[in-house]
Amino acid sequence: MTENTAGSTTGNGAPAPSDRNSLTVGPDGPILLHDHHLIEQQAHFNRERVPERNVHAKGSGAFGTLEITEDISRYTRAAALQPGVKTDMLARFSTVAGELGSPDTWRDPRGFSLKFYTSEGNWDLVGNNTPVFFIRDTMKFPHFIRSQKRSGASGLRDNNMQWDFWTLNPESAHQVTYLMGDRGIPRTWRHMNGYGSHTFMLDNAAGEKSWVKFHFHSDQGVECLTQQDANRIAGEDSDFHRRDLFEAIEAGDFPSWRLKIQVMPYDDARTYRINPFDLTKTWPHADYPLIDVGTMTLNRNPENHFAQIEQAAFEPSAVVPGIGFSPDKMLLGRVFAYADAHRYRIGPNYQQLPVNRHRVEGAYTYQFDGPMAYDHTADRAKYAPNTTGEPFSDETGPAVDGWEADGSFVRDAYTLRADDDDFSQAGALVRDVWDDDARDRFVATVAGHLMGGVSEPVLEKAFDYWKNVDADTGKRIEEAVRAERGTDVAPGPTEAEDVVSA
Ligand code: HEM
Repeated sequence: MTENTAGSTTGNGAPAPSDRNSLTVGPDGPILLHDHHLIEQQAHFNRERVPERNVHAKGSGAFGTLEITEDISRYTRAAALQPGVKTDMLARFSTVAGELGSPDTWRDPRGFSLKFYTSEGNWDLVGNNTPVFFIRDTMKFPHFIRSQKRSGASGLRDNNMQWDFWTLNPESAHQVTYLMGDRGIPRTWRHMNGYGSHTFMLDNAAGEKSWVKFHFHSDQGVECLTQQDANRIAGEDSDFHRRDLFEAIEAGDFPSWRLKIQVMPYDDARTYRINPFDLTKTWPHADYPLIDVGTMTLNRNPENHFAQIEQAAFEPSAVVPGIGFSPDKMLLGRVFAYADAHRYRIGPNYQQLPVNRHRVEGAYTYQFDGPMAYDHTADRAKYAPNTTGEPFSDETGPAVDGWEADGSFVRDAYTLRADDDDFSQAGALVRDVWDDDARDRFVATVAGHLMGGVSEPVLEKAFDYWKNVDADTGKRIEEAVRAERGTDVAPGPTEAEDVVSA
């Protein structure tokens, strides 16, 4: 294509004088302040970025469709989950601890964020590629993330800090086992499963409630990278996963996932042998089998990464009738955290941006004005109740998606159930799910990570942590580290074998 000199415009839509030369006093003279086009270009350029997400900064995504193929109306009245319904959606995948430019193939959980533009409002399921998480109380989240990000003085990632946090919070064992295992580095985003992770509530047309976990199983299969391949790719193409998704969709190779749910009858939660709201645990499929629901397909790339991915605002607070929260203390904290992050990062009217906008006809929201307000309601009532005919909500009585709670205010861990402990599900993964080869790779990955700068007393705690998960595996990890370093494990960094984040 030849150069098109038909002319661009300034911000006010008038012809721009030149996109090549600034206005100067003579060809060699000083530039002039009233060259508004130059000043506007520079000033706007200085404001091109919004803050990156505090976590999950590096990612990308695509648009698609959720199609419900089975009938789960016995569990939920959500319009988007009724048989035959197709809903437009957006997915964003990400790493957690790295910054905007960090390599896609670092060992880290992957974000699996979904926004469904349903006829009853946006439903966001902001999950990960693992069914569990490192902690079970929101209070710990900022501490956890700081331990995985950069240290104060050097600005470096610090394995010692990571293991200090993990070993002092042994409920992390299940998630760290996943992370250090083969699934810790997906081959591509197309080759990983997604999980809503938390326990949510479903309620049906008759007002009956149940508890639910959401699973998205990759139709491409689950495939992972070895540590060696991931390290190599991180150097060769730090955007490996972003590129893969974009190019696959561009080529018409649309990735898809099968949506399945596990459903727990409402009353089971009172007595189930594991606290069903503890995010560090999975529900054994033998007790709560997977139920098929539908298919999610990604078939459209963003036209503009900044507008549609960087400014996409996913929030666990976005639920719709028929889908609700649960007593999970992590979920309840997240219901606050995300919308607050968006107001800071994008602005209080982030929901008006096309990518975040709901698709509900005739909606009337009592939110007005603020920076960059675009939607408006002309001279209609800004207050409720009113006698001017503007709709307002007036629900009273027991919340249809509520649960029972009564007791004094406490600061405490969940009440333990018979089979609740921090290590047994992690141990089952190591012993019962993995084969010898997977266990060997796991020992090598953990030992390699511990040799990347972990010193006493954290190192000793890390050996104990893994012996609690599985005595034999823990012993092998200790032996591998001691063989490399000698029994007198010296403090201070050795060359990092890999880069592992949370
Ligand atoms: C209480 C615990 C948590 C808090 C306070 C928290 C907070 C946050 C915040 C503030 C962001 C940045 C949002 C933005 O700027 O757009 C974020 C992103 C994210 N979080 Fe969490 N988080 C928590 C736990 C979790 C858990 C348990 C999961 C998964 C099961 C998760 C998955 C994600 C994902 C996928 C993103 C990226 C969203 C996107 O793609 O834009 N987080 N989190």
